[in-house]
Amino acid sequence: MSQIKAEQITWHAGTVTRAERANLLKQSGATLWFTGLSGSGKSTLAVALEQVLIARGHAAYVLDGDNIRFGLNAGPKILMDTRGYSETQAKRFGLGFSAEDREENIRRIGEVSLLFADAGLLCLTSFISPYRKDRDAARKIHQASKTGPVPFIEIYVNTPIEVCESRDPKGLYKQAREAVAAGKGMGFTGVDDPYEAPLNPEITIDTGTLSTAEGVAKIINYLIDQGIIKG
Ligand SMILES: Nc1ncnc2c1ncn2[C@@H]1O[C@H](COP(=O)(O)OP(=O)(O)OP(=O)(O)O)[C@@H](O)[C@H]1O
Ligand SMILES: [Mg+2]
Repeated sequence: MSQIKAEQITWHAGTVTRAERANLLKQSGATLWFTGLSGSGKSTLAVALEQVLIARGHAAYVLDGDNIRFGLNAGPKILMDTRGYSETQAKRFGLGFSAEDREENIRRIGEVSLLFADAGLLCLTSFISPYRKDRDAARKIHQASKTGPVPFIEIYVNTPIEVCESRDPKGLYKQAREAVAAGKGMGFTGVDDPYEAPLNPEITIDTGTLSTAEGVAKIINYLIDQGIIKG
């Protein structure tokens, strides 16, 4: 067994500055963290914003909760079926939807988004991320980055649950209500698992009253105001 301790590591600083990256990419890197109930419109907004940013000449990339669960944060079965891991490995690496696994899901995304943003990209993350402490932890690592603070913009998609539930594109609210009615429960955010709303989000968008285009415009204006992109 290795005798090396996990903490026996030394940070090796690069020589490329934040300003050099910003100069190359004509933008400052940042994480735009979408949070909100299932069906609130996070993915729709993030994908539309990514398209607009690219069309304006910016390097942007969406990390979407559902998509990331096909790879980096996949569950054991997907890891075995698509990545060829053994059952033991898949159990060790795979993530489900328990509170612990949701925490690890968001922890990994916090770290990955920080890397993307530090590289100079506009990283758009679209995860329900229901627990305040997990989102705050992601914010904190951006603020405490060894390469200097990285902007972390929390976008609260605060569409009312009645609107989200009436959309129910994945049929998950219906499934969760039935599970609760049957006395089993499903641990579904907003139904029988909590959603802890952000206390001080940088941006709030209710897609029940704002169109996708209006929501995107609100975010673009914020990025221009903050000097992250040029108007
Ligand atoms: N501004 C809007 N106006 C009307 N409908 C919208 C708007 N934004 C999103 N929708 C619709 O709401 C539904 C849910 O949106 P979306 O899939 O983006 O939600 P989500 O927050 O990513 O949910 P999940 O957490 O389950 O991935 C979709 O059918 C989408 O077309
Ligand atoms: Mg989504």
